[in-house]
Amino acid sequence: MSRSSTKGAALVTGATAGIGATYAHRLAHRGHDLVLAARDAVRLQEVADRLRAETGVSVEVFRADLTDPADLVRLEARIAADETIEVLINNAGAALFGSFVDQGPEQIESLIRLNVVAVTRLANAAAKAFAARGRGTIVNIGSVVGLLPEYRSVAYGATKAFVLYLTQGLNEEIGGAGVRLQAVLPGATRTEIWERSGRNPADLDPTRTMDVDELVDAALAGLDAGELITIPSLPDPADWDAFQTARLKMAPNLSKAHPAPRYGVRATVPA
Ligand SMILES: NC(=O)c1ccc[n+]([C@@H]2O[C@H](COP(=O)([O-])OP(=O)(O)OC[C@H]3O[C@@H](n4cnc5c(N)ncnc54)[C@H](OP(=O)(O)O)[C@@H]3O)[C@@H](O)[C@H]2O)c1
Repeated sequence: MSRSSTKGAALVTGATAGIGATYAHRLAHRGHDLVLAARDAVRLQEVADRLRAETGVSVEVFRADLTDPADLVRLEARIAADETIEVLINNAGAALFGSFVDQGPEQIESLIRLNVVAVTRLANAAAKAFAARGRGTIVNIGSVVGLLPEYRSVAYGATKAFVLYLTQGLNEEIGGAGVRLQAVLPGATRTEIWERSGRNPADLDPTRTMDVDELVDAALAGLDAGELITIPSLPDPADWDAFQTARLKMAPNLSKAHPAPRYGVRATVPA
């Protein structure tokens, strides 16, 4: 693929709709060449044709079902082989509504393949390539639901909690080596994800649902500002900092030689 930009290419997964399509639009207009991945080849081509015409950047489509191990391996290989790819927008994902006890094991496994396995393997491929070059950006799309077990979105929320940890942990490992990491935690955002997962978008509370353009523009502003965690809805970033401070206050006490006194366990090994 011939490249036209000097900004480095961006690989966007889930680029046919919603948040991914909006990232593709914004990054093309910032001058990044693009590799766009999703399952629907016709929609991928439409997005690619439009962005090429609007911006003149080079746009390649990469048809892949990221729950299919063979497609995932092809995309990993592409990240490893293509030195022009400097940005990964690890966005493709799905939701699963309803109660955990009513969900089927195949549904849950498919969700985990897309939201966890694919996200982790693509982050791994990008982390290897970017860390070796000392340059690159990995953006993982999580969700505020990953912070809120009280919302009772058990399987989906757990996949998104994973994305947050993955990003924070990876930042500890390679964030100092020139690789930028960001987890974006959207709240409810108007995209196709609601219909795809069987919800009626008309049921969404408009006062608590964000337009996808605003969501992605805020996420990119957060990236530009160097944020590791971007929660576009959150008015006061000090609230996030307080949450991290409370978590880290526990750190010195989370692994000790003996249980805490309240458990009343007699020591079997001297301290
Ligand atoms: N919208 C929200 O309220 C919201 C809130 C928090 C977090 N998020 C997260 O934001 C990300 C994007 O969601 P969205 O709202 O933009 O959803 P969306 O409008 O439904 O778009 C999902 C994208 O992922 C692609 N995709 C789905 N399954 C795939 C598969 N098996 N293999 C490859 N690509 C696949 C879809 O394309 P094809 O159908 O062509 O494959 C589409 O481009 C997800 O990770 C989601 O969890 C969304």
